[in-house]
Amino acid sequence: MGIIDKSKGYLTDTNTYFGRHGYIFKKLWRELKKEKHSSMSCLIIGPGLENSLTDTSLEFTKTYQPFELANILTRANISDYTIDILDINPDVLNELKKTPTLLNISKLHTYHREVSNDYFQSFFSNNIIKDTPQNRIIKIPENVSSKFNLQLGDITRDSLPNEKYDVVICTVLLSHYYREVTGELYDPISRTLTKIENSIKSKGYLIDSEKYGPDNNWNLIAHHSVESPSIHPESTSLFRKK
Ligand SMILES: C[S@@+](CC[C@H](N)C(=O)[O-])C[C@H]1O[C@@H](n2cnc3c(N)ncnc32)[C@H](O)[C@@H]1O
Repeated sequence: MGIIDKSKGYLTDTNTYFGRHGYIFKKLWRELKKEKHSSMSCLIIGPGLENSLTDTSLEFTKTYQPFELANILTRANISDYTIDILDINPDVLNELKKTPTLLNISKLHTYHREVSNDYFQSFFSNNIIKDTPQNRIIKIPENVSSKFNLQLGDITRDSLPNEKYDVVICTVLLSHYYREVTGELYDPISRTLTKIENSIKSKGYLIDSEKYGPDNNWNLIAHHSVESPSIHPESTSLFRKK
């Protein structure tokens, strides 16, 4: 698999799926519900781009994490929020510029079948415009996309759009930079992960697939273990900063 295209200077593996980390997103929703939050500043690094949809119609937005996060914030009664979205690949950010925002969620894809039914059913349930045994089409309300700030950038090199976040999500990304993949002596875990962790407020949350255990600064709230034959960890964790 060609992962890093040096001619383009960015990763070519962008793939994602609706609900890929649904278990952990659901845990975050449960956490957020426990306390009153007046506003939330969030960051998603590398939301990805689904490239396995059988319906390749260009009208659909093929990235999900920003909407999955918006959905759980809304369901936790948090209406005042912003979501910064950082990606190295302009194609990913261009997905989020499509209007109207229509998501085509397949019910047949293996990953989608693994998503728990309540997670799927509670996803923008008031905005379903078509529902068939194969797929569900959702029209995302305009006021959701208006909360997104899109930024083109490289998390391993650039500084972050904001200094302090309440929630940061970074899944199936840094593993691409392991030395085994790039052939280069480059360790993002120690440097980039620390940068990400430092951008989170005290009592803020981190969802990621790279940090394997809590250290003194963090509590592990939940971990979802997934066997993966590839070197990219599919397992995810939810941490809360002390
Ligand atoms: C394999 S996808 C993972 C998508 C999603 N996070 C998930 O878990 O399904 C990797 C994503 O990270 C982005 N990405 C890769 N390297 C990056 C970097 N250095 N800085 C910012 N984004 C990057 C890719 O463009 C893509 O959107």
